[in-house]
Amino acid sequence: MKLIITICFFLLMTVAAGDATLSEKTTKCPFRYLYHFGDGVTDIGNSIRVMPWFDMPAKKYPYGKTYPGWPTGRWSDGLVDFDYTAIDFGLPFIVPYLSMDRYTRYDGVIFSVARSPVLDHSFFKSKGVVIPPYAVSLGGQMNWFRKYLQSICLKPKDCVERLENSLILMGDIEGNDIGYLLTQGKTILEELIRLGATRIIIPGNGPVGCVPYILTALQTNDPTAYDDIGCLKTVNNFIVWKNDNLQDAIENLKREFPKITIYYGDMYEGPDRNNMALKSCCGIGGKYNYNSKRVCGDKGVPVCPNPDRHIYWDGIHFTQQAYYTMEHLLVQPALGSFNCTSKLLSAVM
Ligand SMILES: *[C@@H]1O[C@H](CO)[C@@H](O)[C@H](O)[C@H]1NC(C)=O
Repeated sequence: MKLIITICFFLLMTVAAGDATLSEKTTKCPFRYLYHFGDGVTDIGNSIRVMPWFDMPAKKYPYGKTYPGWPTGRWSDGLVDFDYTAIDFGLPFIVPYLSMDRYTRYDGVIFSVARSPVLDHSFFKSKGVVIPPYAVSLGGQMNWFRKYLQSICLKPKDCVERLENSLILMGDIEGNDIGYLLTQGKTILEELIRLGATRIIIPGNGPVGCVPYILTALQTNDPTAYDDIGCLKTVNNFIVWKNDNLQDAIENLKREFPKITIYYGDMYEGPDRNNMALKSCCGIGGKYNYNSKRVCGDKGVPVCPNPDRHIYWDGIHFTQQAYYTMEHLLVQPALGSFNCTSKLLSAVM
């Protein structure tokens, strides 16, 4: 039954993804599996399964409003970043780790959990910072991955072969925490490489200073705090600085592991914010249509009629349309770097 649902969902997803992705369907890459670690941008259904009893927005309508019409555990009105990534790499049959069944052969497993940071809960507790109870740190996601490998490999050599035949994506991870990817995340990257990983994509951060929940939390009357499209300059400058550091760290890793292909994914250039409101589509109140006490999915919180014309879905995560745009900017340039070829794409050109 579960398998049938999964297959139906996959077919629906392929249809929903529509004509725009048809050209990528024939993409052939010299690897067979995708694995992803990260947060809500790529979570396709783990967070709602971490604490099944916990009341959380992504379980409720209007999540999933655009596609498939009901909530799926994605923090969006439809598909998220990684759905499109998987389609673009020609490996669309992906599953959240917490709902996989061991008898099915998937193209990819997602370990991402919405709102998850790099560091463990204990770190945030010691700093007095509240993170959602269902968040699973990068280390926790790595524990899942080790368990997963144990379940699929009879011998350590099998695991090496599997990882050599894979592409690993690490991030995006909650913006305010990305710096730790350079320090804590490095040991995890090194472990993955030791286990046999040879292809890794590490996306940078998007302009967090444009996101409604940040704009709301750090709202100020000082007009010089904002750039010409209304994003917070200090936050975005900080992100640019972090992304520069991340790229330096990646260059160092490449020198350390010359045989490994490590790719920096630029997520800073995203959908054109000039022509779009910096407001949540689903939300209520304030300048940015976001209120942390009455969030999307809560009773009486309205949803915009046209999510496709919005970048931000619930004030924190993006709309399906925005994911589609961002993901193409990330994956299309990456395809060549990973020796993927796309038949139809060349036929079009
Ligand atoms: C791509 O192909 C080239 C030439 O065959 C090879 O040297 C390189 O290692 C390949 N890169 C990846 C990521 O597979």
